[in-house]
Amino acid sequence: MATEKKAEFFKGAQLRVGIIGCGYVGLPLALRFAEAGHRVTGFDTDPQKVQMLNAGKSYIEHIQQAKIQQYVNSRHFGATTDFSRLAENDAIIICVPTPLNEYREPDLSYVENTAKSIQPHLQKGQLVVLESTTYPGTTEELVLPILEKSGLRCPIVAGPENENVPVDFFLAFSPEREDPGNKQYGLAQIPKVVGGVNPPSGRAAQALYGQVVARVVPVSSTRAAEMTKLLENIFRCVNIALVNELKLLCQRMGMDVWEVIDAAASKPFGFMPFYPGPGLGGHCIPVDPFYLSWKAREYDFSTRFIELAGEVNTAMPYHVVESVAEALNQRKKSLKGAKLLVLGVAYKKDVDDLRESPTLKIMEILQKRGADFDYNDPYFPHLHKMRHYDYSHMKSVPLNAETLGKYDAVIIATDHSSYDYAAIVDAAKLVIDTRNATRRVIRHRERIFAC
Ligand SMILES: NC(=O)c1ccc[n+]([C@@H]2O[C@H](COP(=O)([O-])OP(=O)(O)OC[C@H]3O[C@@H](n4cnc5c(N)ncnc54)[C@H](O)[C@@H]3O)[C@@H](O)[C@H]2O)c1
Repeated sequence: MATEKKAEFFKGAQLRVGIIGCGYVGLPLALRFAEAGHRVTGFDTDPQKVQMLNAGKSYIEHIQQAKIQQYVNSRHFGATTDFSRLAENDAIIICVPTPLNEYREPDLSYVENTAKSIQPHLQKGQLVVLESTTYPGTTEELVLPILEKSGLRCPIVAGPENENVPVDFFLAFSPEREDPGNKQYGLAQIPKVVGGVNPPSGRAAQALYGQVVARVVPVSSTRAAEMTKLLENIFRCVNIALVNELKLLCQRMGMDVWEVIDAAASKPFGFMPFYPGPGLGGHCIPVDPFYLSWKAREYDFSTRFIELAGEVNTAMPYHVVESVAEALNQRKKSLKGAKLLVLGVAYKKDVDDLRESPTLKIMEILQKRGADFDYNDPYFPHLHKMRHYDYSHMKSVPLNAETLGKYDAVIIATDHSSYDYAAIVDAAKLVIDTRNATRRVIRHRERIFAC
């Protein structure tokens, strides 16, 4: 017997919502459901995070402690490592990482393990939604077969003739579009794309998200929803590569690419500005496009734009180090043995996130080339061991005129808003600016080396 529960049930009040993975994506989503009056449980494999959440504490810079505290106190939010409690929920949303492995292939182990941890507790009538960014087909080909091992069914069908196809549980994909630190567009204002494994699943997920976001955009399948997210990220990756390449050409031609981009951005239609930088960073843009390249190979298809963009963007940290070497050379100094200060390890300004940050790569290349460097980042008083890098011995050095003056060069890798760029240029001997952060500095422009 299929579930009696109708998709419209998820329009109801006081639903019990389980969010698996309480990170940059899962935690804001959990708090948004709590704010809308639902009873939310965060599931995470990290007991330290669970403990902090239940104590009303935040571990993500832009997520306010007071908000967590408020919903913990009102019992609208709590966290646990006990996955048997998944059975208590009406809806389960998966927000676990989807990185690349060492061969730059999709690492779906987190999604797979999560599906396996849901399966023994899956209940009739439950709605399961995957939010983790991934290649088209993941929900149907990986998650669904694991969940169906429970004996419950959710058929892959589409079209109006299947509007009311019987299902035991609902399964959908809805990509996260969170832009950490973006004050203009928060979760509630960003439209949410939703695709179901079948029409009832699509409607159930639309009903659920319709309660917490301004607009839900339904698509015909989970694959279309998965591909939508990849298109968005590939669009960014390719355009960033385009301006990075143009920057290199402009430099060779003695032109300022930033001036050109600003001028082009005055066109009110058909143009959207992207800006060059020291390379790609963050959990998404450097990683997600390769999920599609990998899947495309199954269809004997080569995603040339993605590969080319990857090539151009990957070369940027090397370009930064070459620029440092050139700027030092012009001052009769060598990179080997130079004392350098790197400003900003976060992958973009004003965030406490250094995943895939190009600064880490720049530091690795500097180390290989024999430079001696320190770093400063207000968001990272010290560094920890990461998957590819170990800078756990490093601490952020204080930023003042005295310390700045001690270095042969200062590299602006991340343009945090809290930096006083005029003061930095005043005190430093040489500044390598990868972000055009010193564009408004007037004094000592001869010390600035645009990169
Ligand atoms: N961060 C972003 O801005 C962003 C934006 C859009 C989409 N995404 C996508 O969302 C997904 C999650 O990203 P994130 O940035 O929130 O990652 P994150 O690393 O911040 O959070 C993931 C959380 O999942 C937990 N976790 C890992 N394995 C688990 C398991 N088996 N069961 C339960 N919890 C587990 C981790 O402890 C962590 O707390 C990824 O697919 C990412 O590509 C991220």
